[in-house]
Amino acid sequence: MCGIVGYVGRRTAAPMLVDRLDDLSYRGYDSAGIAVANDGVVVVQKLPGKIENLRAALAGNEPPGTIGIGHTRWATHGPPTQVNAHPHADCTGRLFVVQNGIIENFPGLKRELLERGHEFRSQTDTEVVVHLLEEYYDGDLMAAVKKTAARLQGSFALAFLAADEGRLVAVRYHAPLIVGVGGGENVLASDITAVLQDTNKVYVLENGDVVSVEANRIDVDTFLPERAKKPGERQLTIVDWRAEDVSKNEYPHYMLKEIYEQPRAVERTLQGRIKDGDLVLREMDLTPEQIRRLDSFHVVACGTAYHAALFGKYLLERVLRVPVTADIASEFRYRNPILSAKSLVILISQSGETADTIASMEEAHARGAKTLAVVNVRGSTLAREADAVLYTRAGPEIAVASTKAFTAQLTALILLACYLADQRKVDWPYGRDELLKHLLELPANLERTLEVTAPTAKTWGRLIAAGPDCYFLGRNVDEPLAREAALKLKEISYVHAEAYPAGELKHGTIALISEGTPVVSFMTQESVWDKMISNIHEVRARGARTFAVVREGGYGLEDLVEDVITLPAVPELFTPVLAAVPAQLIAYEAATALERDVDQPRNLAKSVTVE
Ligand code: G6P
Repeated sequence: MCGIVGYVGRRTAAPMLVDRLDDLSYRGYDSAGIAVANDGVVVVQKLPGKIENLRAALAGNEPPGTIGIGHTRWATHGPPTQVNAHPHADCTGRLFVVQNGIIENFPGLKRELLERGHEFRSQTDTEVVVHLLEEYYDGDLMAAVKKTAARLQGSFALAFLAADEGRLVAVRYHAPLIVGVGGGENVLASDITAVLQDTNKVYVLENGDVVSVEANRIDVDTFLPERAKKPGERQLTIVDWRAEDVSKNEYPHYMLKEIYEQPRAVERTLQGRIKDGDLVLREMDLTPEQIRRLDSFHVVACGTAYHAALFGKYLLERVLRVPVTADIASEFRYRNPILSAKSLVILISQSGETADTIASMEEAHARGAKTLAVVNVRGSTLAREADAVLYTRAGPEIAVASTKAFTAQLTALILLACYLADQRKVDWPYGRDELLKHLLELPANLERTLEVTAPTAKTWGRLIAAGPDCYFLGRNVDEPLAREAALKLKEISYVHAEAYPAGELKHGTIALISEGTPVVSFMTQESVWDKMISNIHEVRARGARTFAVVREGGYGLEDLVEDVITLPAVPELFTPVLAAVPAQLIAYEAATALERDVDQPRNLAKSVTVE
């Protein structure tokens, strides 16, 4: 939700800021803007629409100055217009702010500031921050920001620029913020991906941190009174992602690149974690005793990660034979969940910064439960604050629609289930050697799946693009996959799609199936094969055009489906890792056939840091 950046150093700030905003554009792309200071003069340029608009407006016209802040917006308060674009200025035009987050108490603050004579130009919550800063500013930006932040409620990351100071000041409170440390220059950003061009050394700020950033100096303080002891400098983190990881290379879209990166991503998820027939999950900070005592498991996430959570439920129940719940984080946090000190809450998230998932973790902690984060981004809030962490190691994911993070999450869950089984002295399904062999073969099988799926997905994608609807069916672990296929299709192609447990369709929704409606069935599970066949008959009898994704060895589909994608023969519990590929490629092909903006679909943002 919105990306913020700041630069102070020796290079001209404007192009630096715009490039770094580009790296954060997956966080929102409703408008973009920068403010650059030079000798006490600040130039602001901001425009609705994507960052290209801002870049075009600045071309040949870049303001001088080596210090500035920038913003790419996902609109919450106020439509995506030029006045609502960030940065926002105070009444004097000397102070500027950009925000990622929400100031929940802005109406009260706005009333107070209006009474004190401040003039507001925008409809945003953010503008109150800079007018409040104006109230407190007397030439010391750090001191004024601390007083300002202490008055704000909500979740926010803010970066400030003052015309008369050669430093930036920023605050983190329940929204991500890092400082990339260079030689003679420093970069502030919402996410590590935006600083990889410049450095692999970062300070990950913590809640309550107020940081002053100059070209050669970084000071960290706090605005939280309860943190009486000053935090001093944060520990420097060395990031193992490379700048090339965030470039598109020869691919037309990040999404396609990331789909094709899946064999490598899954390989990294597995790397070093299987040794001499044992699983080694070093980051797991739960003792065998703690694991044995657990009597309930809860998997919680949002969006695509929630579909991984649904898979996690099937998997953990099957392997551990204990009850497992799977919840959407925005529901879990408010549904008074039954948790105890013997519960494990597993939080799945690519970014580790999704507001509802973080709140679910806090809810779990408040109820005494243990938490485990399955997370991609190192140093993210979930990774730092959960009791234990299992990194998915998929590498940076830039496209808004999640792909490789998902398959890495599924793989991490398989590792986790087997690890927990070991600690609880439960046998693995399929036998130990067999299962390890298949785990290690997953990357190669993904490679094969990409090859067999690509041409067929193109045909199906084009057909589905004609719309208006498409249905995805599945049972057992194929059901979350059907949901993921429908979500992918909706989010990037805007074709209406629904996913159903195949047996449930007849309880109402089958009324929507008519002549020519495409129905794609995921049917990789032997135990429900015949049931799936019956369900396909049901939709076919009502005129549906039917397609199926099966595992090698599927039979009896002749005359029942128009076309089949056949996945390599892996154990049934592993098939979702492979079946994700057709789910993703069908959506991708439909979206490109419709000439959609695949990497930045309308109305969405990759990292949802507000409720
Ligand atoms: C957004 C993204 C989805 C993602 C979801 C959860 O909605 O568009 O692709 O699955 O957030 O994000 P997380 O970072 O927690 O996995």
